[in-house]
Amino acid sequence: MTDRASDPSAQRGPWDCLLLGGTVATLAQGAGYGVIEDAALGWRDGVITFVGTRSQLPDAAEMLAHEVIDAQGSWITPGLVDCHTHAVFAGNRAGEFEQRLRGASYEEIARSGGGIVSSVRATREASEADLFAQSLPRAHALRDDGVTTLEIKSGYGLDYENERKMLRVARQLGEELGINVRTTFLGAHALPPEFEGRADDYIDAVCEWLPRLHDEGLVDAVDAFCERIGFTLAQTRRVFELAASLGLPVKLHADQLSDGAGAALVAEFSGLSADHVEHTSEIGVRAMAQAGTVAVLLPGAFHCLRETLLPPLDAFRRHGVPMAVATDCNPGTSPLQSLRLAMSLACTHFRLTPEEALRGATTHAARALGLRDRGLLAVGMRADLARWNINQPAELAYWLGGDPLIALYSAGNRIR
Ligand code: NIG
Ligand code: FE
Repeated sequence: MTDRASDPSAQRGPWDCLLLGGTVATLAQGAGYGVIEDAALGWRDGVITFVGTRSQLPDAAEMLAHEVIDAQGSWITPGLVDCHTHAVFAGNRAGEFEQRLRGASYEEIARSGGGIVSSVRATREASEADLFAQSLPRAHALRDDGVTTLEIKSGYGLDYENERKMLRVARQLGEELGINVRTTFLGAHALPPEFEGRADDYIDAVCEWLPRLHDEGLVDAVDAFCERIGFTLAQTRRVFELAASLGLPVKLHADQLSDGAGAALVAEFSGLSADHVEHTSEIGVRAMAQAGTVAVLLPGAFHCLRETLLPPLDAFRRHGVPMAVATDCNPGTSPLQSLRLAMSLACTHFRLTPEEALRGATTHAARALGLRDRGLLAVGMRADLARWNINQPAELAYWLGGDPLIALYSAGNRIR
């Protein structure tokens, strides 16, 4: 860490805050946790100014920072990044959970008028304030488990006003909780009943709403559900072409229930990520590697749908495709409100190592959102940090439940 400790910007005090004496997992190198024992981590104006050992500090701690916090006995990691959620919705689908336990499949329920469309009904009926109130506990739970950056998709409105309402609520959640919310427009999530049999007309409508929502500053990225029960490759392509013309990055619910060549399509658009990807072929993996598209693994949906086909993990590793891990928090396939639990499921179901899981929920997740200023701890990065009551970093993926979070900082501000 000598290079960082001797960085000239590290010498300019005073810093706002200095954490002293914990063990830091920087994740700053390509491999390994990047452990620094008896560490010192300082920041000013929300940006990290120093990461190194206590002995590398250029001066006495009190001379360097307005506030010095004793972090002894704790581990410090980058704040967690949940890069794929549908956390804004009204109602719930516990009834479908029971139907699936009795043997119905997710696809069957969707085809018989349940599934996403039933959350659309509830979300349309909710006022903006009610939708906010119903969504807040979920975003709260995610934050209180270590999340500092949260992606939230639209996709339960499926008309202009209700998609807008969802995106506005997503932004409000970020303000309320002090976390950074990244919004994704998922108008092409399902066909609403009023467009029955007219999917191409619905895509016309989606393409009419997107520029208006983007003009309002409500859209950071664009997603679609490319699937037998979602939209075709050609329909998805139309949405992506429009997104590209607006300068918006794309990502895709790809190859979740069948291999629809979705991963290759999103890679063709240099997309941020292909998500789910259980059925992605080697061709798709190669295209992702070439495009730098991240594979977002969603073990909560895999678990709840009792899937058995694993994503092509070895192919991702062989081709150097970065793997992120996210909750997919949604009322249908993954009512999961803990990113640590998603990490645990990724280890148990997909055999990720705990280190891969942590990198997947930080560095690679940030990359899946196109964010280069977070997801690892180094001078010049955002001071998004989590302090944990653990003895080794593997514990973050090991415990199911519990509350190991001691403190959470977003851009240097304590938010929990
Ligand atoms: O990521 N597959 C599509 N979208 C969600 C499920 C949404 C829902 O069922 O409400 C997913 O699994
Ligand atoms: Fe999803």
